[in-house]
Amino acid sequence: MCLNLKIAIDGPAGSGKTTTAKLLAKALGLMHVDTGAMYRAVALKILKEGVDAHDEASVRRLLGHTKICQEVSNDEVKTYLDGEDVSEEIRAQEVDRVVSTISAYPFVREKMVEIQRQLAQKGGVVIEGRDIGTVVLPDADLKVFMKATPEERARRRFKELLSRGADADFREVLQEIKMRDEIDSTRSHSPLKVPDDAYIIDTTNLSIEEQVDLILKEVRRRFCR
Ligand code: DC
Repeated sequence: MCLNLKIAIDGPAGSGKTTTAKLLAKALGLMHVDTGAMYRAVALKILKEGVDAHDEASVRRLLGHTKICQEVSNDEVKTYLDGEDVSEEIRAQEVDRVVSTISAYPFVREKMVEIQRQLAQKGGVVIEGRDIGTVVLPDADLKVFMKATPEERARRRFKELLSRGADADFREVLQEIKMRDEIDSTRSHSPLKVPDDAYIIDTTNLSIEEQVDLILKEVRRRFCR
C-alpha cells in the first residue's frame, strides 16, 4: 500500500527528523533521503578548501566543482562528497556552524533541490529537511512537521556530540541551535516554515518510538483501505 508514497518530514535542527525518517522508511519499506546531509556535505567541502562561507563568489565557484550524492546501504543513508563517503564527518560541530550560512544561498539550494527531486521522483521515499513539503515536493502524500523546544533539541544534540567523543558545551550548543533556527527560518529563499497541510508533532516529550508510531498510525489512517 505504501510503495509509491512520498512522505515529507520537515522541522528545525534537533527535532528528531533524521532518526524518525530512518525508522519510518525501514518500517514502510521506503527509501530514506536526508537533505540536511547534502547541505552539510557542501559545508564540509568549504571547510576542507578553506573557503569563507560568507564569500558568496568563492562558494559559488567551489560548488561548480562539487559532486554530492546519496545512497542507502544496510538501512543507513550514506552521503558522498566527490565520491568519498563523508557520512560521519558531516556531523561535526564545525559543520553545524557554517551550514546554515551556505544553505541560504539560492544557487546552493537550486543544485540541492534538483538532486532531491531526482531521488524522489519515482516515489517510495521518506525525505526530510526544512523545505520539503513547501518547495521540494509540494505534492507529497503526507507532510509531517516535527517541532520541539530549543532546550530539548539542544539537549539531544549535546548528547549526540558527547557520544561521538566531541568536547561540547551545552550553552554553546543551545546558542548555535537558536542561531540556526533564526537563519533557517528568516532566509529569503525557501525558509523553514510549517506547510499549510502539515501533520504537526511536538516531540519535546516523546521518545523516538512514540514519534515513529504516531506517523505510522497517520499513514495507516490515510492510506490503508
Ligand atoms: O537537518 P540538519 O540539521 O542536518 O540540516 C543542516 C542544515 O541544512 C540546516 O541548518 C539547514 C540546512 N537545510 C536546508 O536549508 N534545507 C533542507 N532541506 C535541509 C537542511
